[in-house]
Amino acid sequence: MKKLLSLSLLLALFMGCNQKEETKVTPPDPDHKWWKESIIYQIYPRSFKDTDGDGVGDLKGIIEKLDYIKSLGVTAVWLNPIYSSPNDDNGYDVSDYRNIMDDFGTMEDFDLMLKGMHERDIKLVMDVVVNHSSDEHEWFKQSRSSRDNPYRDYYHWWPAEKGKPNYRYSLFDEKGDAWRYDSLTDSYYLHYFSVKQPDLNWENPKVRQEVYDIMKFWAEKGVDGFRLDAFQFAAKDTTFPAFPDGLDKNFTQYYAMQDGLHQYLNEMHTEVFSKYDVMSVAEGAGRNFTEAHELVDADRNELNMAYAFDGVDIPKREGYSLDHFKEVFSKWDSAFAKKGWLSIFLSNHDQARLVSRYGNDSEAFRAPSTKMLNTFILSMRGTPYCYYGDELGMTNIGFDSISQYKDIAAINGYKKVLNQGGDIETYMKDLKFGSRDNGRTPMQWDASENAGFTTGIPWLPVNDNKSSINVASEKENPHSVLNHFKKMTALRTAEKTLVYGAYELVQKEHPQVYAYTRTMEDTKLLVILNFTEEVANFNLPEGTTLGDTMINNYEEVQLAQNSITLLPYQALIYKIEN
Ligand code: NOJ
Repeated sequence: MKKLLSLSLLLALFMGCNQKEETKVTPPDPDHKWWKESIIYQIYPRSFKDTDGDGVGDLKGIIEKLDYIKSLGVTAVWLNPIYSSPNDDNGYDVSDYRNIMDDFGTMEDFDLMLKGMHERDIKLVMDVVVNHSSDEHEWFKQSRSSRDNPYRDYYHWWPAEKGKPNYRYSLFDEKGDAWRYDSLTDSYYLHYFSVKQPDLNWENPKVRQEVYDIMKFWAEKGVDGFRLDAFQFAAKDTTFPAFPDGLDKNFTQYYAMQDGLHQYLNEMHTEVFSKYDVMSVAEGAGRNFTEAHELVDADRNELNMAYAFDGVDIPKREGYSLDHFKEVFSKWDSAFAKKGWLSIFLSNHDQARLVSRYGNDSEAFRAPSTKMLNTFILSMRGTPYCYYGDELGMTNIGFDSISQYKDIAAINGYKKVLNQGGDIETYMKDLKFGSRDNGRTPMQWDASENAGFTTGIPWLPVNDNKSSINVASEKENPHSVLNHFKKMTALRTAEKTLVYGAYELVQKEHPQVYAYTRTMEDTKLLVILNFTEEVANFNLPEGTTLGDTMINNYEEVQLAQNSITLLPYQALIYKIEN
């Protein structure tokens, strides 16, 4: 080993001496990482492309669309869970972590898909769902079978002779109760999500080792990253002390970031992350900036990045204020300006559609407002996550009847409101606007009956607006939302100022416009976004000389000497001359 080292040192010195001045390369900045420069495209596999006519998307469908994915200019794919699952929560209830769900195909399909991605320089990020498993996982079957089964401690059990355990809130339970009584062993088990998603006991080192082995199995296959589902809830105080009433409204305060969590992440880092060139991202970023830093600061050897919910929590059915929007994103940016790294996203499979929530999905403004929102996501500091269909401007489907919903959160939430004698009308209104099913309708590939998604009956209806909002027609239209998205990914890839450059809010008080600069070394970019359907006047900051227009989501721009009149939802990016 020593010999090898000294040989390579000699070689390096020799090459160094012979290197001509002009061939010197700037050493890579250690803070520059591939995952910071990535543009991540999130695919909800159930809804992307079906190749066998069962109405459910599959891995072969993704393989078929790899050239499309590449053409978007994205550099990585995050895939929602594809492991074996009884699908109580569409794959977030895993029954075998080393197998592919029947609906989605086989391990052979997976290997081909990964190979196809790597051939196109696209990385793959897998979803790791280990706060809980499915109740149909062999571990749970064993655990449930008797109190002295070796797998008993893989989950959280509370013997009934100790009385009813202290209340814990469940997100998906019809009664909101996270404890389920099981007569087989006269005990309660814990499930923060549905009754079919029992929480794994992370305090048990055997469970942790099982998870690391599973992650290594996928890392050995060559996957490039892991997204840790609901992980901030994994550590628990197993004495289950009483919490104050009203816990449901603010359960994160009590559930998140419990003692032990950092130790587990540290261990995961040693066991998995340090051994492979993989990125890691957690769902949830703790309860405050300090906790967010404790998850992601590089010197702590835990995760690369987390994603905070503040941004996706902004919109309400009644609308939201631009002030609040600016405040949230500026606050998070400044908390991470010197250290740590963020994710930037406005939508995913747990949210309704981007344009329906933050923009304007009316016929007149859907296209410019989606383009404006995609400009925002792709011009902020942090790794951008773009959700399938948002590159087209897909919109909410807006179901009216509970029978149309497929999502367990919607269905059990409905039962809970009924159980508690709540206001069902308001619940249905909120659901129509904010339900997760809005964001899960099939990808709109073309104008045909099922939008080219399936030849069978789609598991969730296709949105009627597929006749105008679809890949085939948007590809041909140079002014489409799709082509604007591609321009933005190309710009972000070419212009590293958009990745690493400092962010500074401009004209904070402007009621219609969100403007900011991104600055790195000699390059300064000015991003100007009209968030309203009205024309907006924007005075350029004193001393600003506009250079090249890098992005404009309209064909024109009304520029006077020191001001710009922005059209509804106009998005502009300029180079600033020094
Ligand atoms: C967060 C996931 O994003 C969501 O879809 C899922 O329902 C819960 N975690 C439970 O796994």
